[in-house]
Amino acid sequence: MTHPSAPSRPFHGAHAQSYDQTNAFWAPLRGALDFTLAQTLAGAPEEARVLVVGAGTGAEIAFLAERHPGWQFTAVDTSAEMLAICADKARAGGYGDRVTIHAGPVETLEAGSFDLATAILFSQFLTERAARRAFFAAIAQRLVPGGRLISVDLSAPGAERAAAIDEWLGITGTATPERQAQFDAMVSVLPPQEVEALLTEAGFSAVRPVFQVLLMRGWSARKA
Ligand SMILES: C[S@@+](CC[C@H](N)C(=O)[O-])C[C@H]1O[C@@H](n2cnc3c(N)ncnc32)[C@H](O)[C@@H]1O
Repeated sequence: MTHPSAPSRPFHGAHAQSYDQTNAFWAPLRGALDFTLAQTLAGAPEEARVLVVGAGTGAEIAFLAERHPGWQFTAVDTSAEMLAICADKARAGGYGDRVTIHAGPVETLEAGSFDLATAILFSQFLTERAARRAFFAAIAQRLVPGGRLISVDLSAPGAERAAAIDEWLGITGTATPERQAQFDAMVSVLPPQEVEALLTEAGFSAVRPVFQVLLMRGWSARKA
């Protein structure tokens, strides 16, 4: 699967419409991620309120909604177009009544009492450390004490960073100079220890790595 050109407005317009098709090539990796979600959330309550930040077209909601019929989801994303696809999928899948759509950054969502939260492949776009810490803190503020976050982003230790990014861009078909420049401008690939420190500073404890495939790394964390 190749990307003929960089999307002019990522996650909006034509890019939103083609997002699922363009990303279909990494279904095996998505399967590994789904497996991790299933395992790490296995002990979660049967009836839970789940905050899904950067919900996109609803991949993680589709997976979790089928496995957990007692869960209610709030899908948060700044792209109304991505959320429209998420909502269509939810209706078609018969779980539309369990998904609330919120278009905007998580900070605009009123304080809640969510049992669980996910942030899958989003926080790497917050290129300033302070913004990423504030983002994690905004999630923590919306979780009940002890509530769990599963966060997955793009991360690599410093010594491996350049090679890991090269490999990632090759695998995702984006190794053109145009895409490389867009990646560098949009994405911050922090070492795992720095992501873990930001989660801790944002109010999470029991931060532990639960997932790694290529440049993707994931953590489970509890609101302290
Ligand atoms: C790479 S996609 C991941 C979508 C989904 N989690 C998945 O795994 O398929 C990143 C998503 O984050 C959204 N996003 C970008 N900035 C955001 C922000 N400030 N707050 C919430 N979502 C944002 C984008 O619109 C996009 O849908």
